[in-house]
Amino acid sequence: MEVGEDAGNRLDAIYGTHAFLEGAEARTMGWSQDFLGPTLRLRSGRTARLTVGNGIEHAITSHWHGLHVPGWNDGGPQSLIAPDAVLEQALEIDQPAGTFWYHSHPHGTTGDQVYHGLAGLLLIEDEQPGENALPATYGIDDIPLIIQDKSFSRRGRLRYDDDGMTAMQGFRGDRIAVNGALEPVAQVPPGLVRFRLLNASNSRVYVLSFDDGRAIYQIASDAGLLPAPVRLDRLQLAPAERAEILVDFSDGASSRLISQDVPVQMMGGMMGGRMGGGMMGRSAGSDSPNGTFNILSLTVDESRQAAVSDVPREIRGAHIPDLGEPVRRRRFELNMMMGMGMMRGMFGGRPTLGINGRTYDMERIDEQLRIGETEIWEISADMMSHPFHVHGTSFQVLSQNGRPVSFAETGMKDVVWVENHAEILVRFDHPATPEAPYMYHCHILEHEDSGMMGQFTVT
Ligand code: C2O
Ligand code: CU
Ligand code: CU
Repeated sequence: MEVGEDAGNRLDAIYGTHAFLEGAEARTMGWSQDFLGPTLRLRSGRTARLTVGNGIEHAITSHWHGLHVPGWNDGGPQSLIAPDAVLEQALEIDQPAGTFWYHSHPHGTTGDQVYHGLAGLLLIEDEQPGENALPATYGIDDIPLIIQDKSFSRRGRLRYDDDGMTAMQGFRGDRIAVNGALEPVAQVPPGLVRFRLLNASNSRVYVLSFDDGRAIYQIASDAGLLPAPVRLDRLQLAPAERAEILVDFSDGASSRLISQDVPVQMMGGMMGGRMGGGMMGRSAGSDSPNGTFNILSLTVDESRQAAVSDVPREIRGAHIPDLGEPVRRRRFELNMMMGMGMMRGMFGGRPTLGINGRTYDMERIDEQLRIGETEIWEISADMMSHPFHVHGTSFQVLSQNGRPVSFAETGMKDVVWVENHAEILVRFDHPATPEAPYMYHCHILEHEDSGMMGQFTVT
């Protein structure tokens, strides 16, 4: 759906049904459709106007994940849309082309709503598409893949649980859906195909590769194009991360996109041994045959004409901002161990998780930042690895686990995988007020809903 400057574009959260398994209707939610939402296409340099309506029985929000918009347009937990209410949105898009997404974000129910379908893709396109020789025919050689894990009852209904141990380790389903279909097949032309990958799972991490070993050329990460393609054998995608990749099918052979069944990532800390092998690791390795998931089967349609056949040496239009010298450093410790909070989880209740020893409180502003000031944020984890996300901007990853990360290989990001420790270079160019602050949080949605989130102003 092209979202332009005219009024009239509408997105409504509604209930629906969707047959993931043949003959079994699962109750779902979607944006103006039964499950998930239409792909929104927004132009850089323009204002996108749309009306968001709430047709479900609970409050929702419309969060534009990765967009550089002011706090009052960000759709965080403070910007609730009550049942039957509508919200007019005017989003000024002033960032480079890339693959983003949108999802509901009310505190405490984000996991449930995203799991059932309140999420969709959002593409930012350049005003003048560059001279890049990249595949760009949507659905033909430019294919979006929204990857999510699901769990089903015997009658084919969706199962979701965010209590106790499930919330502690993050909800994990044992079936993988791509754009709402289990193990789908796609036809591609005999040339270069671009896939836009979004991990829209609640907590599962994927390590993607092709079963015949064909190369993956990563051309974009979360927030835009890389300066040059990066050749990979496998690609890790944590929750909320995006990647655009090029894959060469000029050999005409069929192939399969697969993922390792990545276990819950525990650290060898104080409780590592016991927790890792026992309670926390209970679903590790047991979800999939041979520890591998089939994500997508690909067959080549030789009757189609490939538009692009060579992997470009460099990518024009990759935007590499100079964020300047950092003026301060902030530390964020992602806490699983918060006194009795974790115990509650072990005994079946919703655990209390936090950041820097405090659980999320909608009434409390945790940090105050200044517009245009560059900072280093240092993020560490106390027991388990987490995907840390920041609203309102894109950042550069400086290091992961003490090892420097090259910007050329990671590009601009808004999610960083914090296995033990990570440092990011971050700057905000838009305001966020105490009434509509920005969030930073773990994007394991059950952790976020359990309080591993903080909020900040930018003035
Ligand atoms: Cu995907 Cu706070 O967001
Ligand atoms: Cu976000
Ligand atoms: Cu987490």
